[in-house]
Amino acid sequence: MAGELRWDNQVVVVTGAGGGLGKAYATFFASRGANVVVNDLGGSFKGEGGGSAAADKVVDEIRAAGGKAVANYDSVENGEAIIQTAIQNYGRIDVLINNAGILRDISFKNMKDQDWDLIMKVHVIGAYKCARAAWPYFRKQKYGRVINTSSAAGLFGSFGQCNYSAAKLSQVGFTETLAKEGLKYNILCNVIAPIAASRMTATVMPPEVLDKLKPEWVVPLVAVLTHSSNETETGSIFEAGGGHMAKLRWERAKGTILRADDTFTPAALLKKWDGVSNFSEPSYPTGPANFLELLEDAQKLPANPPAEQISFNGKVALV
Ligand code: NAI
Repeated sequence: MAGELRWDNQVVVVTGAGGGLGKAYATFFASRGANVVVNDLGGSFKGEGGGSAAADKVVDEIRAAGGKAVANYDSVENGEAIIQTAIQNYGRIDVLINNAGILRDISFKNMKDQDWDLIMKVHVIGAYKCARAAWPYFRKQKYGRVINTSSAAGLFGSFGQCNYSAAKLSQVGFTETLAKEGLKYNILCNVIAPIAASRMTATVMPPEVLDKLKPEWVVPLVAVLTHSSNETETGSIFEAGGGHMAKLRWERAKGTILRADDTFTPAALLKKWDGVSNFSEPSYPTGPANFLELLEDAQKLPANPPAEQISFNGKVALV
């Protein structure tokens, strides 16, 4: 069909594709000509147990619809085996969707090392291992498209999800650096914070809301970003859910500068505190501030005021 984005002769690996969002991605890519590796460990949403049924079911559905797919049942912590499934069956890998995930929600006060560690293993180590195993193939063929999966919990914090939030924001830093290292080799990497009805959200959202959050509605964003016609969009963060898609970026306040000398004290900073968090003249950085230039500007300023009683957030402090 004219104008249809397709992935003919390409190989797409989707982790955690036995249900939810991963299944929606896998069935879509297969319907658009891709050879798909349907990876799923098949455990519970808390990361317990495992089995082949979840991945097999999706592969069966894809094949019944005339598509091409193979199953892989490894944990993403064993990314090498997942990527090898693509290489052994189809001889290459073009697109990696790091999607597998679990939850171990609990307040920080009650969190056990096991809750923290398991989340890190699946989300952080899992995404790393899969990308690491795919990377040499991407570099060699000078082509690769990667989607990593973050979450609103990671971007904004979420009560009871300290472990998950930490793991999910790590996907942003991971993606931004992969994007920088991959650019020269035409490896484009983006990170999404989806929201969709799945077994993960079924416990926290009412059915009438879940009805409006179809996993299929996240697919177009993932498709556009992973198609060969995307030649420039990389290192970006996107939200997608309920039909809404939006790019996110960092915002930096104009900030304040102080002369860095003996008078550079807490009092000097409090005198100019308003400027630190004043966003009336923002910039949208893709890298750190130019510290050398700022340092030079600061040295041109007069010495900072001496210590004194000063008001901070309505309280008087001796600084
Ligand atoms: P889901 O629970 O339906 O799907 C996750 C899949 O990953 C499951 O099929 C599970 O068996 C698989 N999996 C878990 N651990 C694995 C491992 N170690 N190795 C291989 N497969 C494993 O959940 P959903 O909602 O589809 O989540 C997909 C991704 O999107 C996850 O990374 C999740 O954290 C993220 N996400 C989802 C949101 C939502 O609203 N559904 C919100 C924000 C992020």
